[in-house]
Amino acid sequence: MKNTGKRSIEIIERDKKVVSPSLTRSYDLVIDRADGSTIYDVEGRGYIDFAASVAVMNIGYNCKKVSKAVCAQMEKMVHCGFSDFYTEKPVELSEKLCEMTGYEKVFLSNSGTEAVEAAMKLAFWYTGRSSMIAFYRAFHGRTLGSLSLTSSKIKHKEHFPALHVIHSDYANCYRCPLNLEYPACGIACAKEIENIIFKRELSPKDTAAIVVEPIQGEGGFIVPPVEFHKELRRICDENDVLLIADEIQSGGFRTGKFMAMENFGVRADIVCMSKSIGGGIPLGATLSSSKIMSWPPGTHANTFGGNLLASAGGLATLEFMQSSKLGEKAVEKGNYIMKRLNELKEKYPIIGDVRGIGLMIGVEFVEKDGSPAPSRRDVIINKSLVGGLILLPAGDSVIRFVPPLIIKKTEIDRGLEIFENALKSS
Ligand SMILES: Cc1ncc(COP(=O)(O)O)c(C=O)c1O
Repeated sequence: MKNTGKRSIEIIERDKKVVSPSLTRSYDLVIDRADGSTIYDVEGRGYIDFAASVAVMNIGYNCKKVSKAVCAQMEKMVHCGFSDFYTEKPVELSEKLCEMTGYEKVFLSNSGTEAVEAAMKLAFWYTGRSSMIAFYRAFHGRTLGSLSLTSSKIKHKEHFPALHVIHSDYANCYRCPLNLEYPACGIACAKEIENIIFKRELSPKDTAAIVVEPIQGEGGFIVPPVEFHKELRRICDENDVLLIADEIQSGGFRTGKFMAMENFGVRADIVCMSKSIGGGIPLGATLSSSKIMSWPPGTHANTFGGNLLASAGGLATLEFMQSSKLGEKAVEKGNYIMKRLNELKEKYPIIGDVRGIGLMIGVEFVEKDGSPAPSRRDVIINKSLVGGLILLPAGDSVIRFVPPLIIKKTEIDRGLEIFENALKSS
């Protein structure tokens, strides 16, 4: 990055000496602090944040109510082994999650991938089966179970052993994998599971679950038609297979609803949540019915699930999300950003598609012939950063627009102005 300062360079050099090189850093931004929807680097320069630390900071940075609850809990007690003893805070958090989702039982953990691992183990345990179906371009995490479901980044999967997962086509209508057109296609992509996979590759009798993101995130912010999820639900019901929804990126009111699946009118059997529900404190949750989550003691547990700080932070985050009507805000601001981005699409042919629900929005960049334009996308991200706007990539040639849900209209306008300047000079 052009304007990396002396202090940033020094920290990056120290980082390179001791930190695992497996992390992917999009650019040389060294962060010091944040406020609301603005991040400051160690040189004191401010950046409007349209990434919310990868859809985690839905409540914005430094939410006073959450800090107060976490500090009060810190004074009282930081941690007690919730797998071995009883304590109230994680119970309160689980009650709140059940009240907000209608599920009956919760397994608490510390991250997205752990929420997915718990969902996979639960589905294997409940059905007594050992295979799953997931989707091309899916991202469910990087530990070995969730990595087996992940398909978006092949380099993440090379060299690592995997569980038995068959991948199927997701409903990517902008670039239909079957070269069909919606709605004439009849959601043929979902039907492939019954027509091809269940007939030729994997019997439903061996399939524990179909695992799906309501909107594919890392894969490119792909929003399927409502019928795609309805069709998956039907296939699961008719073939006695569980449906697992990975709400890790899409949940927490990002799409207006607490769970993005609500936009599609579909209820999964098991739901994975993380990222935003901890308000920045590591928290994962796997939710299900009492019937399914009936595994006996010893089948699954962990050291830090139900940690007191995470539970206090998570509870305060959920209360803040509800009391400040973050769902309504996501819809209102999301509609505004979509409108503005669609206007930019008319002006700049490099924008091929604008799509999203609420504040989970993706912009796909294309070459003149309509093919993906990954390097031009990266140039726009870098120019935006130099201008004072944080953007993150997704998929082959998409930029995601996932700001904190509390972002102000003036910040949105300023961010879009920086983005347009980057477009003009690219
Ligand atoms: C949909 C989805 N599932 C799972 C994960 C993994 O979460 P974590 O990085 O906390 O393990 C992510 C992370 O980006 C995600 O977007």
